Amino acid sequence: MAEYMRVTVRIRPIEPGQTPFLSFDNATEEVFVATGKRIVEGCVEGYNGTMFAYGQTGSGKTHTMLGAEPIEQGLYHEQNRGIIPRAVQHLFELLQEKKSKSAGEFNYVAHARFVELYKDELHDLLGPNNQLKLRDYGEDVVVTGAEERQIDCTQDALNILKLGFDNRKVGGTAMNQHSSRSHAIFIMNIETKETVGNFTTKRKSQLNLVDLAGSEKQQSARSSGERFKEATHINGSLSVLGRVIRSLAANPSKYISYRDSYLTHILRNSLGGNSRTVVIVNVHQNPEYASDTISSFAFAESCSKITNRVKVNEDLEGDSLTAWKEEVKRLKGELIAAHNNSKLGKSITE
Ligand SMILES: Nc1ncnc2c1ncn2[C@@H]1O[C@H](COP(=O)(O)OP(=O)(O)OP(=O)(O)O)[C@@H](O)[C@H]1O
Ligand SMILES: [Mg+2]
Repeated sequence: MAEYMRVTVRIRPIEPGQTPFLSFDNATEEVFVATGKRIVEGCVEGYNGTMFAYGQTGSGKTHTMLGAEPIEQGLYHEQNRGIIPRAVQHLFELLQEKKSKSAGEFNYVAHARFVELYKDELHDLLGPNNQLKLRDYGEDVVVTGAEERQIDCTQDALNILKLGFDNRKVGGTAMNQHSSRSHAIFIMNIETKETVGNFTTKRKSQLNLVDLAGSEKQQSARSSGERFKEATHINGSLSVLGRVIRSLAANPSKYISYRDSYLTHILRNSLGGNSRTVVIVNVHQNPEYASDTISSFAFAESCSKITNRVKVNEDLEGDSLTAWKEEVKRLKGELIAAHNNSKLGKSITE
C-alpha cells in the first residue's frame, strides 16, 4: 500500500515559556497525538514505523524527541516528556492491553538497540563498540555489532534510553548550550505471536525514533577545533539526507544513492521504503534564522511528496490440512446458519 510520508512543523518559542507568534500548538503531547500514536499503533499490527525530528541547530529537535532538559525531566516527567518516552509507553500499554484482551493467546517480545552516527562512524550507545556496520538483508538494513537489550515494559525502555542519552555526544556551541553532536537512532524490534483456534499469526515490526543533529552555519555557530570538525560531518550527512529526499520527491523510480551516508543507509526503509514515516520539522521563530527556516520548509515540502510502500509484516502458521479443513467446516456452519436465518426471515415476512 502506498502511503505518503507525513510532515508536521513545530515552532520553538524565542524564550522558553513564551507563546509562539504563529498559532501552532506547542505542546509535545499534541505533537505526539497528531503524529506518533498512529505510528506506534501500526507497530503493534506489524507495520514498521519511523519518527524523526529535523531542523537547524537549536530549533528544538531534542526537546521534541527526548523532552525538556535535563535527561531525567525529558524521560520521566509526565508533562516534559518527549516523543520517544511517550512512544515507548504507548507501545507497551498497547501490547499489554492486547495480551489481556486477546480471544486466544497473545505474546510479545521486544528488543532495543541505540546507536549514534558521530563524525561518520556508527557508535553503540549501549556498549563499547564504535565501529558498527550496516548490513542489507533484502529490504531491511541491520546494524551489526550493537548490543541488543530485551525490553519487557516501559520502565525497561526508559532505563535503556537514559543509559544511551547519557552516552550521547553533546557539546556547547554559540547557538545551543547542549547541542547534539551526533544523530541518535533508537531502534526497537517488536515481535508478536497470537494463537486463536488452530491459527497462529506472527507479526514483526521495527520502530525507529531519531533525533538528528542540526545543521549549522559555521559563521553563526562560531565553532572551531573539535566542534568545527563535528559540524562539518553533521552538515555533510544532512546534505546527503536532503539530496535523497529531493530525489525521492522528484523521481522515486530513479536510482537513489542511500549509501552515500550511514544516515540515509540506516533509514533506507523509512525513506521511500516499507515504513510509515513521520517527520517533525522544527523551526526557530527568530527572524534572524529566516533563511534556515525557509530551507527547512523546503525539506518539509519534499518529504510530503514521498510515498512509502507500506506492508504488514506477518506470517500465518497452522495452515496444515487439518487446520484448514476445520476452518472450512466452521465457515460452512456459519453459512448454513445465515442461510437458514434468512429463509426464516423470508417466511416470517411472507
Ligand atoms: N518548544 C519549546 N519550548 C520550550 N523550550 C524549547 C522548545 N524547543 C526548544 N526549546 C529549548 O531551546 C533550546 C534548544 O533546543 P534543543 O536542544 O532541543 O535544539 P536542537 O534542535 O536539538 O539543537 P541541536 O541541533 O544543536 O542539537 C533548549 O534549551 C530547549 O530546552
Ligand atoms: Mg539536539
